[in-house]
This record gives sequence, C-alpha cells and structure tokens, in this order.
Amino acid sequence: MKKRYRTLEFKEYGDERGNLVVAEGDGKDIPFSIKRAFYIYGSDSEVVRGKHANRLTKFVLINVAGSSDVMVDDGIHKEIIKLDKPRMALFLDTMVWKEMYHFSSDSVLMCLASEHYMESEYIRDYDEFLKEVKKSSI
Ligand code: TYD
Repeated sequence: MKKRYRTLEFKEYGDERGNLVVAEGDGKDIPFSIKRAFYIYGSDSEVVRGKHANRLTKFVLINVAGSSDVMVDDGIHKEIIKLDKPRMALFLDTMVWKEMYHFSSDSVLMCLASEHYMESEYIRDYDEFLKEVKKSSI
C-alpha cells in the first residue's frame, strides 16, 4: 500500500524585503479545496497533541514559525517528520493517525483542512483506528 502521507514544498519568493511562501488550493499546491484553517501555538515541548485519525478530512500541516515533530501512522507505514521551515508542509490523507509534539516555544503550526469540523469523523482510539484500516484494506 502507498503511504497516505507525504511532505510538500511550496514556492518561496525572497528578496531584500523578506520572504513570501505561496500555497494555492484545489490541487495546485494543496491537494484539496481548503474549507478550514486553524493553528496551534503556545504548546509546551512535552505536550502531545492530536492522537487521532479522520475518516473524512485531509490536512496540510505547516510550521509557519518554529518547529514541531509529527508522528504519522497510516496503519502500515509509520514515520516521525520534523516540520521546521515555513515552505515545508505535511499532507495527510484520510485515515492517518497523527501525534504532534516537541513544539518549540515559537511554534505556530498551521493546519489546513478539506472539511468543516465534525467531531463524529474523528477516531480518537488507536485500536479502533487499526480495526477500521484493516476493514478498509480487505
Ligand atoms: P483537538 O482536536 O483536541 O486539538 P488537537 O488535535 O490539536 O489536539 O481540539 C481542541 C478543541 O478545539 C476541541 O474542543 C475541539 C475544538 N476544535 C474545533 O472546535 N474546531 C476545529 O476545527 C478543531 C481542530 C478543534
């Protein structure tokens, strides 16, 4: 099975005035239409956030400032990805378990989502996640 996550690199325009990163939706840079954006900041480095998978929502995660580590697990492949550049992003397809931690004190983790917030499409139990991954791969 192909990995259900991958890193992305956006275009960066820099000159003497500073830098500008572009991420266009609808499949150009972001592989979906963006319906929601939220950002996480002020989390201590020992905090672990996330610990869930989504049945319907795809995400793109970008540390627009600072850095964090993201553990991703699609039920078959598992990796820890360091987000530490504003032009770097992590795409998560549906059904990827994610945990975010090691937040730097200046970390601002921007999350772009393909769907509006709906608690019922979140899987917050890891065993239930594995069960649903197995079921869908039969
Ligand atoms: P939570 O999913 O626990 O955040 P994280 O995945 O970063 O650990 O969400 C924290 C709170 O914010 C929870 O009460 C739900 C709420 N929330 C929304 O209302 N809308 C959203 O889009 C998100 C992501 C969270």
